[in-house]
Amino acid sequence: MAEIAPSILAADFANLQRDVEMLNASAAGYIHVDIMDGMFVPNISFGIPVCEAVYKHAQKPLDVHLMIEQPDRYLADFKKAGASGITVHYEACPHLHRTVQHIRELGAEPGVALNPHTPVDNLVDILGDVSLVLIMSVNPGFGGQKFIENTYRKVAHLRSLREKFGYTFKIEVDGGVNPGNAPLLIKEGVDILVAGSFVFNAPDPAEAIRLLKSS
Ligand code: DX5
Ligand code: ZN
Repeated sequence: MAEIAPSILAADFANLQRDVEMLNASAAGYIHVDIMDGMFVPNISFGIPVCEAVYKHAQKPLDVHLMIEQPDRYLADFKKAGASGITVHYEACPHLHRTVQHIRELGAEPGVALNPHTPVDNLVDILGDVSLVLIMSVNPGFGGQKFIENTYRKVAHLRSLREKFGYTFKIEVDGGVNPGNAPLLIKEGVDILVAGSFVFNAPDPAEAIRLLKSS
């Protein structure tokens, strides 16, 4: 059974406390926090004060996904703002090993995210150092996009590397997740499913989380 990490990018920002409380009472395992800088991705979401505000009410760990350039500049700020895990993009980190160590030293779980075009094999020399690998199943930047089918193959390959080398990182998929693709993703090895629009556009978001979790 996979854990569900609803993305608050799709929440009602004017009712953030209400939506976080809904997640607290739901079957969600994490709260996914999408940070976009308008540079690494063509969209700006929100920053550190909003992360802090979510943390103030959250009773689930914050899974912070940094879609920003030079994320090293802000790792300590996001840890302070409540991040339990901090995921940076492979494509944004020329010194990824240093960045991952930095996150661990701060006391957060380090994760690495891959854009849809980035091969899983590019991570072979860092897989033993990370707690999470996030496979993007859409091009990052916006919620509500269509799931890219090649993701299944990437998940299966990543899982085979994990087994081959005996690593313990979790596999997360983010973008366009819904009950149509969740069962096959879980079968291929996904541990954490991020879902934004499917959860928050549902008439009953807590029920939508339950539905995904029972996939
Ligand atoms: C995309 C973000 C995702 C997104 C997921 O750049 O990283 O977390 O909010 O939203 P849906 O589920 O609507 O694709
Ligand atoms: Zn995300």
